[in-house]
Amino acid sequence: MRYRTMGTRRVSALCLGTLPFGTVVDEATAFALLDRFTERGGTFVDTANCYCFWQPGSDGGDSERLLGRWLASRGNRDGVVLASKVGALPGGPGEWPANREGLSRPVVGAAVRRSLERLGTDRLDLLYGHVDDPATPLEETVAAFAEAVADGLAEQIGMSNQRVERFTRSRDLARRAGLPQYAALQQRHSYLTPAPDADFDYQVSLDGPADTAAVGPEVTVLAYGALLNGAYTDPAKPLPAEYDHAGSPRALAELRAVARETGATANQVVYAWMLGGSPAVLPLVGVSRLGQLDEALDAVDLDLTADQLARLDAARTTVAVHP
Ligand SMILES: NC(=O)c1ccc[n+]([C@@H]2O[C@H](COP(=O)([O-])OP(=O)(O)OC[C@H]3O[C@@H](n4cnc5c(N)ncnc54)[C@H](OP(=O)(O)O)[C@@H]3O)[C@@H](O)[C@H]2O)c1
Repeated sequence: MRYRTMGTRRVSALCLGTLPFGTVVDEATAFALLDRFTERGGTFVDTANCYCFWQPGSDGGDSERLLGRWLASRGNRDGVVLASKVGALPGGPGEWPANREGLSRPVVGAAVRRSLERLGTDRLDLLYGHVDDPATPLEETVAAFAEAVADGLAEQIGMSNQRVERFTRSRDLARRAGLPQYAALQQRHSYLTPAPDADFDYQVSLDGPADTAAVGPEVTVLAYGALLNGAYTDPAKPLPAEYDHAGSPRALAELRAVARETGATANQVVYAWMLGGSPAVLPLVGVSRLGQLDEALDAVDLDLTADQLARLDAARTTVAVHP
């Protein structure tokens, strides 16, 4: 494992996502994955207060409750950098995501306390806002997150699915008010670029170097959707429509060429490209089997050459608009 600095913390370069744990992925498998991740040096674990409310019988707290049981049974709370998110849980009548609870001050304060109860801990190491909330003033959300830090409920704070312009404005507001600033930004991001007209609804895609440069070196950028749900290597999984455009074949050809040169899988090259970029992007690892996790963990040791990184960068920038 390799490690990076995120604000005040040292974190593993890969962050284990636990979205399906306790619903789609059963407890024994999830515990085995968490054990393998930590045995191989992983420390950074990601959940949310809404995983996976859309699965039958779930209230959205299953992943956090499972993590709470795992932390209690292994007694290793201090060995884990624990991140969770609030704001995307359905909060009332209507359709999701429009009815999400949002990021107002009362919601954040109550939601983080419920997360801590489920996780069986007294603090999060990283508290994220899950999805931007345009109905709440940025000042209120910034103050709510600062309150969570002041109350000792969260050590650091971050945001997910917020456009970079609003993210940097929030950081600026916090800085000027002498409040804690977001230390992490979690967005959709993969090697393939989405078509310029792609619509991800509430999800925000990281557009590339321009966005990562704009957030500044003091912010750790994390990517979900890195493996496009397995589409790079699993023939049974077609490319998501947003990534299936005229620019993708050239990018995929370069990805596969680098995979052949290095003896790595295309998935591993995606992770190594993220970690080797400047600035680096830390991948969220989504896995349901030990073999997938080992493949991800092995990718941490894959150092791409400057030439390979440059070729990969060049090939992905040829994005064509849908006809
Ligand atoms: N902030 C947000 O809004 C947000 C949104 C989504 C996810 N996340 C976070 O990101 C984490 C990762 O989720 P993701 O779904 O976005 O990840 P992803 O990388 O796009 O896809 C993960 C899926 O890819 C497949 N896969 C993984 N390794 C593979 C391999 N070596 N070979 C073939 N297929 C492989 C698995 O599918 P199968 O299980 O079908 O085999 C796995 O479930 C989540 O757990 C969550 O913590 C955050």
